Amino acid sequence: MKGIVLAGGHGTRLYPVTLAVSKQLLPVNDKPMIYYPLSVLMLAGVREILVISTPADLPNLQRLLRDGSHLGLDISYARQDEPHGLAEAFIIGAGHIGDDPVAMVLGDNVFHGNAFYDILQRSVADVDGCVLFGYPVSDPHRYGIAETDAEGRLISLEEKPAEPRSNRAIVGLYLYDNNVVDIAKNISPSARGELEITDVNRVYLERGKARLVDLGRGFAWMDAGTPESMLQASQYVQTLEQRQGVRIACVEEIALRMGYIDAAACHRLGSQLAPSGYGTYVCAVAKEFGHRTG
Ligand code: TTP
Repeated sequence: MKGIVLAGGHGTRLYPVTLAVSKQLLPVNDKPMIYYPLSVLMLAGVREILVISTPADLPNLQRLLRDGSHLGLDISYARQDEPHGLAEAFIIGAGHIGDDPVAMVLGDNVFHGNAFYDILQRSVADVDGCVLFGYPVSDPHRYGIAETDAEGRLISLEEKPAEPRSNRAIVGLYLYDNNVVDIAKNISPSARGELEITDVNRVYLERGKARLVDLGRGFAWMDAGTPESMLQASQYVQTLEQRQGVRIACVEEIALRMGYIDAAACHRLGSQLAPSGYGTYVCAVAKEFGHRTG
């Protein structure tokens, strides 16, 4: 399965902060925002990843993530000149996707939950159509909303509905079979002039090929797109990290635990970040995994 991190957009709700800096490079507590979605793909076992962003932001994203080989990944880059919608990612990324299924995650989405690794592994194992993930929210009119029947089967999808039929938002992580490229090429732009991912998902729904996985209330999902939600995400991460002494979305640790790099490589990465608490943590994880210093 191939991966896409969609990390373009103007980030207008964060102006003036995002006038000169990509939203996805802003910190969520102790690390750049894009580490969170990147770690989702890594946990899903997806290692060939395309980062899509604006021409202005790509050089900085590239400076941060390089070609991914230090994390045992293969990261490439593509530009989206204007934010023409989430579904445009499959047209821009068609060459990267090739004949494979694809997992796309939005660059400003933060996920955290106990069983997430298992949910991801189970979900990527059989993608026949599309797999969407639902999460209960208090303000459903802001999101793509899923309606399910009594058995939990998906029966309708609406984009930012004025009168939502449920409170179950579709989160910014989507798994598709290879038909997604053709479907994205054949949908029309919405009234907003965007290629809406909800329209892609609706095609799968009409074909009886859309599945919804409930993330449930014991899970944390945040999109860090406003000053308030960015701060909330930082506070959430900070609270857990301080309380438990672990780090969420530490990409070096995930690379090590997933077997993408060895303990020596992990220690080298930590040493390069040494003065920070993050760097110290990465070194400590490497030692725990058997790396000997001196
Ligand atoms: P949004 O938050 O919908 O858009 P934005 O990031 O431009 O912010 P704002 O609404 O404040 O102007 O986008 C969600 C994520 O998807 C975010 O990480 C940016 C990305 N995105 C693209 O890369 N290209 C697009 O065409 C769109 C619509 C979003």
